Amino acid sequence: MRVLIIGAGGREHALAWKIAQSPKVEKIYAAPGNDGMAALAEPVMVDCNSMEALADWAEAHRIDLTVVGSEVYLALGITDHFARRGLKVFGPSQQAAQLESSKVFAKRLMTKYGVPTAAFRVFTDPAAALAYIEATPGPLVVKADGLAAGKGVVVAATQDEAKAAVRQLMEERVYGDAGKEIVIEERLEGEEVTLLALADGKEIKPLIPAQDHKRLLDGDHGPNTGGMGAYAPASVLTPELLSQVEERILRPVIQGMAKEGHPYVGLLYAGLMITASGPQVIEFNVRFGDPEAQVVLPLLRNDLVELMLATLQGELHRQPLEWEQKAAACVVLASQGYPAAYEVGKEITGLAAAENLSDLLVFHAGTKFKDGKWQTAGGRVLNLVGLGDDIEAALRVAYHGAALVKFEGVHFRSDIGWRELARKR
Ligand code: AMP
Ligand code: GLY
Repeated sequence: MRVLIIGAGGREHALAWKIAQSPKVEKIYAAPGNDGMAALAEPVMVDCNSMEALADWAEAHRIDLTVVGSEVYLALGITDHFARRGLKVFGPSQQAAQLESSKVFAKRLMTKYGVPTAAFRVFTDPAAALAYIEATPGPLVVKADGLAAGKGVVVAATQDEAKAAVRQLMEERVYGDAGKEIVIEERLEGEEVTLLALADGKEIKPLIPAQDHKRLLDGDHGPNTGGMGAYAPASVLTPELLSQVEERILRPVIQGMAKEGHPYVGLLYAGLMITASGPQVIEFNVRFGDPEAQVVLPLLRNDLVELMLATLQGELHRQPLEWEQKAAACVVLASQGYPAAYEVGKEITGLAAAENLSDLLVFHAGTKFKDGKWQTAGGRVLNLVGLGDDIEAALRVAYHGAALVKFEGVHFRSDIGWRELARKR
């Protein structure tokens, strides 16, 4: 098979690494890909924002399967465009991708099918939203309806903060039309966990739970980021809670989407809050998490391509999942200044030494190979994934790697996995 991966980050590198292990796969391309994954996936220069250009390229290169990293392309309808030309994409249709591309759609679907999620209201008029905040005591979360590169959510500490968020989203339109409609919801309390699941339109198969670390600094302080690290499995989702999530959340959503005429086929990301009254949905995403994929995929024993094909054929029930009895931990090395402005082009040293560590995987997120040297090219630069018999061992390997790799201004969290470690004490 000839596989095309769309995207350029650490998640896509991890996908390429896993897909390359499939005996079915003869050649992998990545559009645009990155230099760090080029040995696995040949970079393709094609305009990824044009579905026609991508489909033309895939047709000309006889691509058998396209795997989409980021929600942006799914929201643009890549799956539908490709399907019209007889090309297979692992990822939901544009309509089904609304679970991520419209928070209003996702909340309404959850309400209709009884899926536990924070109580909410939808607003299209800023004055009404401001009046609602004024009249509502207690902590609120303000969310842009549309995609905003993960930045359209404000967990407001005060009413003034919530009002400022409404003005920015709806009046100033800082994320454009994403703020035409907003959701205001109650703030949930508890521990967050990510559950990725394969869905073939009828069946669901959850992968192992993972936990992301969204804040920049140790102790979960500082601004929100795309994710500073992750680990799996996350034991906060006990087997009992996992079956609750399957029965009360995943199954009703998959059945609900089918009933609405938008069967969900692909990978569903459930962002969950484990509250005192059980798991509730914070958000759905319609693709693998970044950096969750980097810790979940290395523990999966199955052939990922086989799983993806079974998903597309509606035959997930025939595929029992098998897992390494190990733990994985990912430490993200970021550029100084990230998630705000940062400089690129800093030389990276120590990569070869890190790659030589046994049980360490190095996934590239934002790097460039220039004049025989590696340099930084993004906010999140590298993902160091340690594997071990338990979380402690996995973390030791990941941090050993982090100590070897150097570039000016490198920042990483030193407490990845702290909730898991605290639980074990
Ligand atoms: P999202 O962009 O939907 O992933 O939201 C970003 C982050 O905001 C989530 O990972 C949570 O930490 C937080 N968040 C979103 N909605 C809620 C909520 N209703 N209660 C508490 N935290 C939330
Ligand atoms: N790690 C969060 C996300 O992929 O959305």
